[in-house]
Amino acid sequence: MPTPWRPPFVYAVCQHGAEAVLKRELAVRAPQLRPAFSRPGFVTFKLDAPCADPEKFSLPSVFARTSGFSLGSVKGQRLHDLAAEVWQLPEVQTFLASVELAGLHVWQRDERTPGDRGFEPGPTLLAAEAEQVIRELSPIESLRPAAAAGRSTPRNRWVLDVALIEPNHWFVGCHRTTSRVASWPGGVPDLELPEHAVSRAYLKMAEAMSWASLPMSRGERVVELGCAPGGASQALLDAGLEVIGVDPAEVDESVLADPRFTHVRSRSVETSRKVFRHVQWLAADMNVPPNFTLDAVEAVVKHPGISIRGMLLTLKLPDLALVDELPKFVERVRSWGYLDVRLRQLAFNRQELCLAALRSRSQRRVLRDAGARRRSTNKPALTPSAAPLSAAPAPADQPESPT
Ligand SMILES: C[S@@+](CC[C@H](N)C(=O)[O-])C[C@H]1O[C@@H](n2cnc3c(N)ncnc32)[C@H](O)[C@@H]1O
Repeated sequence: MPTPWRPPFVYAVCQHGAEAVLKRELAVRAPQLRPAFSRPGFVTFKLDAPCADPEKFSLPSVFARTSGFSLGSVKGQRLHDLAAEVWQLPEVQTFLASVELAGLHVWQRDERTPGDRGFEPGPTLLAAEAEQVIRELSPIESLRPAAAAGRSTPRNRWVLDVALIEPNHWFVGCHRTTSRVASWPGGVPDLELPEHAVSRAYLKMAEAMSWASLPMSRGERVVELGCAPGGASQALLDAGLEVIGVDPAEVDESVLADPRFTHVRSRSVETSRKVFRHVQWLAADMNVPPNFTLDAVEAVVKHPGISIRGMLLTLKLPDLALVDELPKFVERVRSWGYLDVRLRQLAFNRQELCLAALRSRSQRRVLRDAGARRRSTNKPALTPSAAPLSAAPAPADQPESPT
């Protein structure tokens, strides 16, 4: 009988600068983990006892973009040698003897924080080159064809992870595709800022829609509090929604020119409640503390005659100590009747989080395009078909790990 595979180390990928807050969060939510190796954007932890049931393990973290088990690391100067060593690592061989491997994710550790000097997380040429060679040398035939690169791995399968910590230092791990985000290499969706976008908030909103899977349908209405200059509203418009943007600041002319966009030029508190009638969805992206955003949202959703089905809220974290308040924020939103509340630091968020809320978990949209998703270094712009909206509310998505 082979010895059961019981991995003793866990890894997590996060935003540059979020390592301390990630460790602080896990010290409370997963005290069986002890921080080990750490680099900006990448942290490993030792479990107090090797994991007895790797299939069931999930990291309860808002700040982890993706996570899994550590299988070791390789160092070297030549790409081909590094790729060969990946497959020779003893932990990788034990892993391969214990599970059926269905996918390979290769990505490069973030260089900087998102939005800093034009940097955005996502595929890089070096990661694509490394992936090609790792595939060529794979002992698993189904991983070898180049065409397999970038294919989305079906749900609930094992994926081998190779994170390029440095060009000459690769970390090797593995994870189960138990959620939508677990099928994105490095936890980053395949998005690129389209040319017409007036701000990078476009990416945040596109990612939020993809992650949260709210059952939004074409032609439905959304109000965005804090919409100027209009990037996030453009992502909502591109996905087929009608958008009412509330903001005292100027909205870009190109957004104003869209007949499905209406600008209400006022602060949220001064905005007539009539604006929110016949509106199904609420988004907020105001540069104010989280409690102010929640006050503004509460004043809308609790108003008689207004029926908001779900929300995507950006909560700014000017002070990372606010992480201790997160359970209170979630409880507050739940107290308004939204029982499915999730928090995630999106890959395209800066020092902020995304809160997604629905009245019940059973409302989440089914993922229909998993097989159709493609990754490449030449990323296509997000189009309505890349962020599909259902024509009608769909049944519940497969379970995702709670955050
Ligand atoms: C981060 S920017 C929003 C970016 C925008 N979502 C986009 O996609 O381009 C924050 C915005 O919040 C707006 N804001 C701040 N306080 C507000 C309030 N009380 N009501 C409405 N908007 C507010 C600011 O005027 C500013 O335009």
